[in-house]
Amino acid sequence: MDEEEEVFPSLSQLPSQVGAHLKKMYDCLKEATLQGVLPPFKRYKHIYQVLDTDGNLRCLFKADQEECCRKEACVYLLDHPENGHRSLSQDIYGFSGVRPTLFVRRLKIGTKTISGVLVEFVEPTGEIVDYPPPVVPMDEIQKVAIADLRFGNIDRSPDNLLLAENNSIVPIDHEMIFGIDYNLSNPCWLSWLLNNEEPFSERCANYVQQLDADKDLQFLSACGWEPGLDFIEKFKVFCIFLRLAVSQGLTVLHIGTMASFKCEEPKFNLKYMVDGVTRDDKFFESVESHLKELLREYYESI
Ligand SMILES: Nc1ncnc2c1ncn2[C@@H]1O[C@H](COP(=O)(O)OP(=O)(O)OP(=O)(O)O)[C@@H](O)[C@H]1O
Ligand SMILES: [Mg+2]
Repeated sequence: MDEEEEVFPSLSQLPSQVGAHLKKMYDCLKEATLQGVLPPFKRYKHIYQVLDTDGNLRCLFKADQEECCRKEACVYLLDHPENGHRSLSQDIYGFSGVRPTLFVRRLKIGTKTISGVLVEFVEPTGEIVDYPPPVVPMDEIQKVAIADLRFGNIDRSPDNLLLAENNSIVPIDHEMIFGIDYNLSNPCWLSWLLNNEEPFSERCANYVQQLDADKDLQFLSACGWEPGLDFIEKFKVFCIFLRLAVSQGLTVLHIGTMASFKCEEPKFNLKYMVDGVTRDDKFFESVESHLKELLREYYESI
């Protein structure tokens, strides 16, 4: 017998308005699949348009491997709104502006069964590369940086940022989170910050101080996914790093440089900082104290 279709997150675990928003997207997808095919989106072979009954493009459905889909849904789920944790806040859009995303497993379209992510469509107002800062405000860049630093995203190219209304930025494409060992590689915002001396804004700093990785992991589990040990470790360590680095008053450029393996002094690269900690049952406490010490040393050296 065919296995049943399933979604993540499970909608009953979400605040009513957030659950209703995702349900509406899902209903639109189900309605659209009654046609037996979904129209392709642009040149993409794996991305489909989800049109409502009036023919408006509401969502995209991106077919992908399950692990990638879960990660994408996870980033929306943990992009908490500024006014509270996603498990409690009725706001649809979170601090970093990630669009509502639902992992749909074993969706049946005609004779095919595919798994993928359903993501709300944003009409871009232009190409981000044509509007570097200061056209796009530094605030928007900092919000994307926070998302990338929380989720260890190694695929932050300008193609994965949409320019939306009022020069806001919408980050998309989060299937490559926690990709390489504690190294964001080459996030595009790092080059936009060259010579920029600003620390995270007070809003960003307050947001970061409220983050609670253990609570987030419990929430993921309540919503239907038990992440693996690698995910858990990286999620917690990036959170510790970000919180300590922000409270040390380091600039976004410095924090990004450390997390992207671009510090001239090797010991200040996040990867090396974490490699220096023994993996025993006190690992996270040791990471905390080791990082604290090195971040202070770094701060004094600049
Ligand atoms: N929510 C969205 N709203 C509007 N356009 C989107 C959205 N998500 C994706 N796109 C468009 O589709 C393109 C491909 O999406 P995405 O990057 O998520 O897929 P991908 O499988 O990683 O493809 P690629 O290999 O090109 O990165 C994006 O570059 C963007 O132009
Ligand atoms: Mg992409």
